[in-house]
Amino acid sequence: FQKKKTWKTGFFIFFFFFFEVGSHSNGVAVLPAPQNLSVHSTNMKHLLTWSPVILPGEMTFYSVEYQGEYESLYTSHVWIPSSSCSPTNGSECDITDDITATVPYNLRVRTTRDSQTSAWSTLEHPFNRNSTVLMPPRMEVTKDGFHLVLELEDLGPQFEFLVVYWRREPGAKEHAKVVRRGGIPVHLETMDAGAAYCVKAQALVKTIGRHSAFSQAKCVEVQGESLPLALALSAFVGFLLVLAAVPLSIWKTGQLLRYSCCPVTVLPDTLKITSSSQKLISCRREEVDACAVVVLSSEQLLEAWT
Ligand SMILES: *[C@@H]1O[C@H](CO)[C@@H](O)[C@H](O)[C@H]1NC(C)=O
Ligand SMILES: *[C@@H]1O[C@H](CO)[C@@H](O)[C@H](O)[C@H]1NC(C)=O
Ligand SMILES: *[C@@H]1O[C@H](CO)[C@@H](O)[C@H](O)[C@H]1NC(C)=O
Repeated sequence: FQKKKTWKTGFFIFFFFFFEVGSHSNGVAVLPAPQNLSVHSTNMKHLLTWSPVILPGEMTFYSVEYQGEYESLYTSHVWIPSSSCSPTNGSECDITDDITATVPYNLRVRTTRDSQTSAWSTLEHPFNRNSTVLMPPRMEVTKDGFHLVLELEDLGPQFEFLVVYWRREPGAKEHAKVVRRGGIPVHLETMDAGAAYCVKAQALVKTIGRHSAFSQAKCVEVQGESLPLALALSAFVGFLLVLAAVPLSIWKTGQLLRYSCCPVTVLPDTLKITSSSQKLISCRREEVDACAVVVLSSEQLLEAWT
């Protein structure tokens, strides 16, 4: 009985050493593990960072894995490799595409080199994307003629914006508008001449039920009456010019036709006596032809004008 027990203990010790040494030679826990894991999340872009492991020689790589709420509750041994960092050679990993739900995520990183790996380092507190820092959106306020136009930065499909704008005057009423997407110019209002309009906006993320602070208001001013007045004046002057030009051109054309078709000539007395009705008709015919030519030839008309 005593002998049997000793044998059992020996066997156990043998296996223990076998696995310990074996596992070390397989590379588990040979490399130092990354430290200081943290997630920096701004505007729903999530970045996992860690302190780099400096090793002499070749390049060090890292592998990142994550676990959503379901896995951590029901299948805690299942870890999913991060889509963009399995492996990576940098000391950060963009995990935005891996975080697809508003639940706590466990994250872990290990160092790898050739067939060697370190132990896993796990993020101390699970990351929930509802903790992302929401910045007031950047925006550009412009005027297009009398149109107040706003363009917000494109933060992706998860973002909407609440836009508030008002005419800058005492006791002005604020107007609100929800803009579904950034990156495209939006017409807010047709402005009155001589007035200033101001705009501010905040970013909303429905999936986490949170919003950023409002951006600083940006204002644009429409030119006073002077510009529209000048425009109206020049249009009016143009109209007058056209009005004056039409009768003038009619009169000028009439003169032209009269001088070319019916030249005032003093005929010698002999001709006056001998002129018959026959000749008169032929002359009239020629006159008509001449008129037709004059009317058709625009070049001649122009020459007559100048
Ligand atoms: C972890 O961060 C702390 C402070 O930020 C720093 O002092 C420490 O050196 C870091 N650890 C490693 C392994 O880089
Ligand atoms: C990672 O590898 C790429 C090329 O594969 C290289 O350009 C880059 O500098 C490396 N980054 C680091 C931190 O070593
Ligand atoms: C994020 O959601 C959790 C519950 O899922 C809640 O306890 C926590 O207060 C929320 N954090 C923020 C910043 O909204």
